[in-house]
Amino acid sequence: MARILMVASEAAPFAKTGGLADVLGALPPALAKLGNEVAVVIPRYRGFVLPRARIWDGLAVHAGPHSYLAGIDEVVRQGVRYLFVDIPSLFDRSGLYYNSQGDYPDNHIRFAALSQAALGIARHIFRPDIFHAHDWQTSLLPLYLRENFGGDPTFFQTRVVLTVHNLGYQGLFPPTALTDLSLDRALFNSAGFEFHGSVSFLKAGIVWADALTTVSPTYAREIQTPEFGFGLDILLRSSAPKLTGILNGADYSEWSPVSDWRLAARYSAADLSNKRACKMALLKEMGLQADPDPPVLGIISRLAHQKGTELVTEIAPWLVRHDVRLVVLGTGEAALETEFRGLASAYPEKIAVRIGYDDTLAHRLEAGADMFLMPSRYEPCGLNQMYSLRYGTVPIVRVTGGLADTVDEDTGFLFRDYSAEALAKAVGDALEAYQDRDAWAGRMRLGMSKDFSWETSARAYHRLYEDIL
Ligand code: ADP
Ligand code: GLC
Repeated sequence: MARILMVASEAAPFAKTGGLADVLGALPPALAKLGNEVAVVIPRYRGFVLPRARIWDGLAVHAGPHSYLAGIDEVVRQGVRYLFVDIPSLFDRSGLYYNSQGDYPDNHIRFAALSQAALGIARHIFRPDIFHAHDWQTSLLPLYLRENFGGDPTFFQTRVVLTVHNLGYQGLFPPTALTDLSLDRALFNSAGFEFHGSVSFLKAGIVWADALTTVSPTYAREIQTPEFGFGLDILLRSSAPKLTGILNGADYSEWSPVSDWRLAARYSAADLSNKRACKMALLKEMGLQADPDPPVLGIISRLAHQKGTELVTEIAPWLVRHDVRLVVLGTGEAALETEFRGLASAYPEKIAVRIGYDDTLAHRLEAGADMFLMPSRYEPCGLNQMYSLRYGTVPIVRVTGGLADTVDEDTGFLFRDYSAEALAKAVGDALEAYQDRDAWAGRMRLGMSKDFSWETSARAYHRLYEDIL
């Protein structure tokens, strides 16, 4: 059994913008269940509602020339110590990463400080065998550990795992970050953390971590190709011996129609009848007529290039010629938000769009839709298709990354080419199949029976920790 200190910028239910938070909410408890001691370090952002449980005051945190005194708050949840780094000048802001003006200009300092705080926590509060960092925000940790603490006996046996949840976000900063963070200029080269003239946090993590994982086996292969490698494919190919793909799980304690308190009614594979009540409730909530017959297609997504939602706006005029409803929940790039708003006003009887972030509606949408669309350009893992399967909501997905590893022709509808035609063909096939309600119910039940619980993934991480220790 190991002592594991996870470090990340999000963890559900405390702070979430996407799937990273779901992972940090569920993997640590699953590892604790296997007998490991697990703590998670995340920032204390604005709006943190739980009672303040200060366990440490005045933890000195240095990010280059910048010094902070951090308070550490603790919440124990499902056997895991969640430790919140309280540095108000860095984290008490309206957004996690950006506001209406764009990315915070000091993100490099904010997240360098998070890694440094984790190292301080490791010395004073929770000494780990394994640091487990996630994404670019915590990717300086492996570098700091080896370069700044290489001679510190506290960490002689300590190993670092970095999980890449999304290679599309690398944490790239201009060379002024070298001074801002007092990084060693001798390491600012192609073998180090330099990437086309920028400081790359993610590259530092890839180079200095003892082991690398990504969140599905297919994505682990894809990122070693020029098409998916975002310029890091050569490095990732040469890092292949330390790289593995471990599929994320789904947290069925949060995402199951049998127990989901947010739904109008609960249902199971054995008795699907209440799913109809969820569908009616969703249509009403979204301001559409409560008609049980037309199939409802759902989308829940960050509205970003990665997610391929442009394909949906492209096929919308074709789609509305059929007797279907489209229900969209998403937030992100302004241009995409505007496009979806435009669709809702062009076809108010058929398309309903909620721009924003709404966890409760996300659950209701998973339950109330008949089909779920994920036309991603790339998808490291993807969680909503797994939730959809569990809710009997048939996924229509592009065959890429974790979508390819979780949905097949029996449980969903697949397309390969990134094109409106290919998506329309898959949707057309689904609409036709929907006409045979008995066969459709069989497909729903098969999806609901699939088991992507975290236990399997946690075991794979556990084996990896043991290997590198
Ligand atoms: P990604 O992390 O790339 O955004 P995932 O499929 O891994 O994609 O996870 C997305 C998570 O964020 C899911 O739990 C999904 O329900 C949630 N989510 C995304 N957009 C919204 C939104 N607008 N409102 C509520 N939940 C959302
Ligand atoms: C990223 C990816 C998504 C993955 C999530 C959790 O945000 O875009 O595919 O499911 O991380 O690992």
